[in-house]
Amino acid sequence: VDKFPGHVRNENFKKITEQDVDFFKSLLGETGVVYKNEDDLFAFNTDWMNKFRGKSQLALKPKTTQQVSAIMKYCNDQKIAVVPQGGNTGLVGGSVPLFDEVVLSLQNMNNIRGFDDVSGVLSADAGCVLEVLDNWLGEKGYMMPLDLGAKGSCHIGGNIATNAGGLRLLRYGSLHGTVLGLEVVLPDGTILDNMATLRKDNTGYDLKQLFIGSEGTIGVVTGVSILTPHRSKAVNVALLGLNSFEDVQKAFTHSRKELSEILSAFEFWDINALEMFKKHAVTKAAMENEYPFYVLVETSGSNKDHDDEKLNNYLEKMMENEVAQDGVVAQDETQIRSLWAIREGFTEALGKEPAVYKYDISMPVPKIYECVEDMRAHLTQGGVLGKPDSAVIDVVAYGHVGDGNLHLNIAANRHDKKTSELIEPYLFEWVAKHKGSISAEHGLGVAKNEFLGYSKSPVMINMMKTIKNLFDPNGIMNPYKYLPTK
Ligand code: FAD
Ligand code: MLT
Ligand code: ZN
Repeated sequence: VDKFPGHVRNENFKKITEQDVDFFKSLLGETGVVYKNEDDLFAFNTDWMNKFRGKSQLALKPKTTQQVSAIMKYCNDQKIAVVPQGGNTGLVGGSVPLFDEVVLSLQNMNNIRGFDDVSGVLSADAGCVLEVLDNWLGEKGYMMPLDLGAKGSCHIGGNIATNAGGLRLLRYGSLHGTVLGLEVVLPDGTILDNMATLRKDNTGYDLKQLFIGSEGTIGVVTGVSILTPHRSKAVNVALLGLNSFEDVQKAFTHSRKELSEILSAFEFWDINALEMFKKHAVTKAAMENEYPFYVLVETSGSNKDHDDEKLNNYLEKMMENEVAQDGVVAQDETQIRSLWAIREGFTEALGKEPAVYKYDISMPVPKIYECVEDMRAHLTQGGVLGKPDSAVIDVVAYGHVGDGNLHLNIAANRHDKKTSELIEPYLFEWVAKHKGSISAEHGLGVAKNEFLGYSKSPVMINMMKTIKNLFDPNGIMNPYKYLPTK
């Protein structure tokens, strides 16, 4: 399978020579350079979904910002293309090379630089794993302001580069608000030290914002300072079974009203997602009966009695009004974890299918499930869904209701032209028609870049190209991705 159809190597980029490798070894030592070792390079060349695969012969593992700077200066002078790589959990093929680009891995830059336990500001290297940071903060009574299923592998630098949203954006907001400062190495090696720890600073353009969500196209994030909230003493998780997406919306509006300041997550999935999870995971049923829709509600507060009372009142109302057909409340930490394990397990379960078309879209909440139903009807009409030998196995939906973010996944027996052409650009047209975004949180990478025009105007795309050229005139950073190439 051609993993990158339609792409051609840009011959302006230099091919790596032994002399280049000697330079990198002199800078990083033997252990900081992985060269021409197929086995060791495999992980750097292959994305999390095993969908995209590059052919890089060289991965570099610097330990300091100065080393990153020296690498970038050398690559810029020599016109060597570079792909910054964090935990390699990205879902749009952005973190792996297409051809022979050098992989610049941040995995050896994993020191915590400092923590202020009055303001809750944490400063850390970009290669720190999200879960490691969260556990470290946990001992101090704090937590990271974002959480996602990939927390055990993704880096905070990768989170910033993708502007990851995750499971608690509803409560703690986006990284555009919580990141206070960044240290970034620009493509020519310049170190932009903007490691501010201030909440307020109106002295000019807020440059760090440009790098949040820039997917490694204009600089390498090497350090971050981020505002972290107090870890809540009382956490409750409830699972609801519902009959319709309309009821999901009612449950959501009520949760905002009734649970208000203690609401920390509101996630949904459909029965198809649950079936997919059960197919691949060993799990005990959380509910006796099955329902077309499920909602996970989490509350986090400082007073358990108060939170229990609020949640119980909410659940009672949902059952009395027949918004929810069933409800369970986790009784201890183990049950909390197993309810979250269902929600966080869909990505991995889908990854075990022969093929999966992943979409991550945002739109007004009332439209979310219409989109799923429309896609099912469209694929059935197109002849690829609904028969025993159909290419498509199932259309699975889950997502962050509170953020208007739907994860639409089409599991298939194979990637084939007919199915791909039925989905794209049909889905993007649907999203654009409803004023949505074709990528709510996973980014563009190599999977969505050619479709950017469905979410951004020509004026905006031109401005993005101008910014790219300003920072990276040689185009060496993460080429072929992010911006449309055609
Ligand atoms: P990578 O995958 O290594 O890289 C992603 C992009 O960022 C690439 O373009 C890369 O070049 C660039 N990059 C990485 N590090 C740097 C750096 N230091 N400087 C400059 N550029 C860099 N995303 C969400 O938003 N919400 C979710 O809930 C969510 N859940 C997920 C669950 C699972 C199980 C998985 C596998 C993925 C999930 N993701 C989610 C997708 C993914 O975006 C995040 O996992 C994460 O933010 C990527 O971080 P990473 O360190 O793995 O980055
Ligand atoms: C999620 O919310 O689970 C993630 O964004 C990953 C996915 O979409 O599969
Ligand atoms: Zn998500």
